[in-house]
Amino acid sequence: MAQTLTILGLESSCDDTAAAVVRQGRGAAEILSSIVYGQTELHSAFGGVVPELAARAHAEKIDICVAEAMARAGVGFTDLDAVAVTAGPGLIGGVLSGVMCAKGLAAATGLPLIGVNHLAGHALTPRLTDGAAFPYLMLLVSGGHCQYLVARGSEDFTRLGGTIDDAPGEAFDKAARLLGLAQPGGPSVEVEAKAGDPKRFRFPRPLLDRDDCNLSFSGLKTALMRTRDQIVTEKGGLTRTDRADLCAGFQQAIVDVLAGKTRRALRLYLEDKPQAPLLAVAGGVAANSAIRSGLETVCAETGVTFTAPPLRLCTDNAAMIAYAGIERFRAGARDDLSLAARPRWPLDRTSPSLIGGGKKGAKA
Ligand code: KG4
Ligand code: ZN
Repeated sequence: MAQTLTILGLESSCDDTAAAVVRQGRGAAEILSSIVYGQTELHSAFGGVVPELAARAHAEKIDICVAEAMARAGVGFTDLDAVAVTAGPGLIGGVLSGVMCAKGLAAATGLPLIGVNHLAGHALTPRLTDGAAFPYLMLLVSGGHCQYLVARGSEDFTRLGGTIDDAPGEAFDKAARLLGLAQPGGPSVEVEAKAGDPKRFRFPRPLLDRDDCNLSFSGLKTALMRTRDQIVTEKGGLTRTDRADLCAGFQQAIVDVLAGKTRRALRLYLEDKPQAPLLAVAGGVAANSAIRSGLETVCAETGVTFTAPPLRLCTDNAAMIAYAGIERFRAGARDDLSLAARPRWPLDRTSPSLIGGGKKGAKA
């Protein structure tokens, strides 16, 4: 019988300070608590996450977050089996806040310490929510990440491809800024797009003609800026309809690119003949209903099940870190006080790096 494990997880790699307690016995894992303190307001005036402000806010909030997660879960430190913490990749000041806090807790309580790769946290979420069996295909789409991963084991991931520049959430955020819409841009653009005509403006579908799983989103933003400027030059400004049509055309381009690249990624994944083929998405962009239905359609064509975890577990959270900690613990992994915080930490060490660090930290 599998040992029942109760693990406290800490996450602070970008702009969410989070702590959670997750327990797993023989059956499904149970989230006993999951606390997230977002920093959206703190950074809103700057048009992106300011690393120094983020790090300071994490350092201020992380212990409060831990106390709240423990209280909400109704557990004490003697009920825990380990402390798991995001040790990278991400904005280094933030990662350090979490790692230092976790080391302090481990040193004071004698609990084992487990460093978790943030991307593994996202990538293992379908096992926490749906008990997904390996191997499954994972599409990570957020403000900081964009990659296709085949998850074969809790430490065994193959990256099929990813963005060579911006992440899709970053593209949505920049588009919203160009059109004077509120941040975060994804939800604002989606709302506008609902009333728009996706065919009025034709945006490029970058890299769709290339037979690989790599993506590019930065050119889309430039195309949007050019089209906007052209309308402004011709008519002196944007009407509500212009804005809605721009959003609809922009969103449709992202839907088409993700659908097309997912078709390719699925073809590669299906070569392994998985018994229960599954595509899972994670990341804030997975909240977009046009993107979800585009992915669902592609899955239906190929007889692959589609799953998207609830949004609170798609976006950054510590339950996924605690759960990944459980999987690492079961695999015998233990870290000690020499655990390092890493700005970069690719999940698939055999794949070459696709890009440099982005606004929200390293993406691959
Ligand atoms: O996963 P997340 O909370 O944080 C990281 O980036 O790690 O994702 C946030 C991103 C933002 O860029 C936001 O604009 C985007 O997800 N997003 C969306 C939607 N909701 C959030 N993008 C498109 N459509 C949405 N409905
Ligand atoms: Zn993330």
